[in-house]
Amino acid sequence: TTPLRLGIAGLGTVGIGVVKIVQSHGELLSNRAGRPVQISAVSARSRDKDRGVDLSSYAWEDDAVALAKRDDVDVLVELIGGTEGPAFDAVTAALNEGKDVVTANKALLAVHGQPLAELAEAKGCAIRFEAAVAGGIPVIKALTEGLAGNAINRVMGVMNGTCNYILTRMQSAGLSYDEVFQEASDLGYLEADPNLDVGGIDAGHKLALLASIAFGTQLKFDKMELEGIQRVTIEDINHAADLGFRIKLLGVAQMTGRGLEQRMSPCLVPTNSPLGQLENATNMVVLEGDAVGQIVLRGAGAGEGPTASAVMGDVMDLARGSRLPVFGQPVDMLVDAPSARVAAP
Ligand code: HSE
Repeated sequence: TTPLRLGIAGLGTVGIGVVKIVQSHGELLSNRAGRPVQISAVSARSRDKDRGVDLSSYAWEDDAVALAKRDDVDVLVELIGGTEGPAFDAVTAALNEGKDVVTANKALLAVHGQPLAELAEAKGCAIRFEAAVAGGIPVIKALTEGLAGNAINRVMGVMNGTCNYILTRMQSAGLSYDEVFQEASDLGYLEADPNLDVGGIDAGHKLALLASIAFGTQLKFDKMELEGIQRVTIEDINHAADLGFRIKLLGVAQMTGRGLEQRMSPCLVPTNSPLGQLENATNMVVLEGDAVGQIVLRGAGAGEGPTASAVMGDVMDLARGSRLPVFGQPVDMLVDAPSARVAAP
């Protein structure tokens, strides 16, 4: 049988997590896919760094575009990050060569997802990004596969673990925003640009991706109403608690009479609700379908194992030959600003 041969661009936490799964689960993956799943080549900025895994049997490329174009690479696994530069160039190169792409890059997709999806369609290949939204939670597969027979009424959730950590820690330890921000930084939770986290932008990218899949709308991040957690004070949190609420950075996307509304902002949620009980850096996504009702998915939204798990879910789909289009035929139904605040669940 023909193996599926991967090229891994980016050997940070997630890239190494993917290498570990391929190395440790070779037989399991091959049994499930009906063909071997192999790594042909890898690329990263520094070749000499000790990453704690044996990379000696893989070809090395300094350049991610060269990796994408290699004859022995069937699927580009893009784990570099960033909206421009090598991530964008390598993904574009792979699609132009008619190769499938798996990526965890939420920012790249939120900004360039529409043209990249169109390029993939024109070339007859797939771009898959389960790992880009809520890390290890298979929420894209839930929407595109399990819930494919539902009209989706609403998608919402907590999709940035760092913000959830900061808000729950302010609450439980009675610490100020600045103190907990420093803690999150010391723990290595923050993105290279922390404003992506605390400004709500990272979570907004994820919501835009989910909304476009759930509602079949064009992917337009700039149509989202966005507010981060920087202005949430310990007094806000204590007042909310007195009234039986927690403050969460909550994303809500819902279809209204005016079109699709998308908002990411600090919201009050009842303390005793699933969202109110969400602690630490965990993520939670709530999906509402007309037939199924409400579904709550909860799990790790970041980290080596969880994010690599989602990447491998996409790789396995491709290994089995699935070319499932994740985005449908897009319709332009986005509204500029939500009409009114919705009550959180
Ligand atoms: N900074 C992100 C978070 C990482 O805290 O959730 C995962 O996308």
